[in-house]
Amino acid sequence: MRRAFSPPPKRGVRAKLAHESSGHDWWHIHRVVRTVRTIAREEGADGFVCELTALLHDMADDKLNADPAAAQRELEAWLAASGVGPETAAHVLEIIATMSFKGGSRPPMRTLEGKVVQDADRLDAIGAVGISRVFAYSGAKNRPIHDPSVMPRERMTEAEYRSGNDTAINHFYEKLLKLKDLMNTDYGRRMAEERHRFMEAYLDRFYAEWEGLS
Ligand code: ADP
Ligand code: NI
Repeated sequence: MRRAFSPPPKRGVRAKLAHESSGHDWWHIHRVVRTVRTIAREEGADGFVCELTALLHDMADDKLNADPAAAQRELEAWLAASGVGPETAAHVLEIIATMSFKGGSRPPMRTLEGKVVQDADRLDAIGAVGISRVFAYSGAKNRPIHDPSVMPRERMTEAEYRSGNDTAINHFYEKLLKLKDLMNTDYGRRMAEERHRFMEAYLDRFYAEWEGLS
């Protein structure tokens, strides 16, 4: 009984994300849902909680909502009315809150299901899909693909960074190449290692082509 919920959220989530361009579109959700299925099966996590959380994880994100507090209330109200039960609802909300934590010391995920969803979300930022998302995001911000004079983010001033003095290739070093070491689960890490190798091979070719060498 606890597993029967209504109304199914998929249509609502899809409608809300249909015209998203910050890299959190519906197909990102689709991929994260598919990936949690794979990891949950391998890790023995509760697949229902993982999939439900994957489906909802960006709903209250402040990048998607002019009023994130209202979006958070909407999410809580939906979960309360959904029939999943207060325990599952609280679990889903806890995972989403931990995933979207901004600021200093990142709190660790408490539950296996949280670890699985966070891994799947991070996996979508790396590998072939991750590469596509970087260039889509950079293009939407009118940033260049590469500029050999652009320094690592840590060495840019806040003003330089905000002025858009950032490139798609730079984002690999700022974030993407660091993600494999942040994986929570063994299976997630294995998937991340494969995607990481693909990005390294991609970058090797990119620089060789940049210099006209291959
Ligand atoms: P999330 O909210 O999922 O943690 P972000 O909003 O940081 O992730 O990123 C969403 C997507 O946009 C990711 O695929 C990420 O690599 C890409 N992205 C974010 N910031 C940049 C950037 N400065 N340059 C290029 N791509 C970026
Ligand atoms: Ni996400």
